[in-house]
Amino acid sequence: MPKAHPDFKNLVEFDHPLIQHKMSWIRDEATGHRSFRGLLAQIAGLMVFEVTRSFPVSPVKVRTPLEVTEARRLSANITVVPILRSGLGMIEGILYVMPEARVGHLGIARDHDTLEPVAYLNKLPKDLAAGPVLLVDPMLATGGSASSAISMLREAGAKDLRMICLVAAPEGVKRLLKDHPDVMVYTAALDRALTDKGYITPGLGDAGDRMYGTG
Ligand code: URA
Repeated sequence: MPKAHPDFKNLVEFDHPLIQHKMSWIRDEATGHRSFRGLLAQIAGLMVFEVTRSFPVSPVKVRTPLEVTEARRLSANITVVPILRSGLGMIEGILYVMPEARVGHLGIARDHDTLEPVAYLNKLPKDLAAGPVLLVDPMLATGGSASSAISMLREAGAKDLRMICLVAAPEGVKRLLKDHPDVMVYTAALDRALTDKGYITPGLGDAGDRMYGTG
């Protein structure tokens, strides 16, 4: 089971060999967009398996072909919210292991004049308080979009909020946990730093461009 990071109480960094193996391929600049998309979905699916460990379950009676037995089913309405565009690449893998989850969408861009992040798309289920909400974006860079996204999810009613990313920069984790100290952040890698252009190093480049072949 992954442990909290020593530098950040609310950060969990995954060291599972299968996740680290796939991270080595997704970081590789020689990996093309088709493989990149597959790896992104697979890593997200593997991460969600651990992230959901504390989700509530309720007992149910189930009739097997042999007898009635007691089993357990997820008892909350789970919502996954990708930040467009690259968060979309994590959805397929998450829905593969958790097909009952609902999917909300947030598109966030920086306003040219104020430089503040603004939502150009906000389509969320109405009762976000009904269960855990997983915000997904492969890259947690400056933390600006993620922090705004979490504020929007809170305004929409979300109570139990978690963020899943593949690569996080220390600057982004610091900003996010300063703005939202109760959120749990899960990452497959806490990288070294941000460049002055806002790229994570060593990182994996522009996740949206690499997954859609638009670079
Ligand atoms: N977004 C990306 O896609 N890559 C980075 O390195 C930082 C932000």
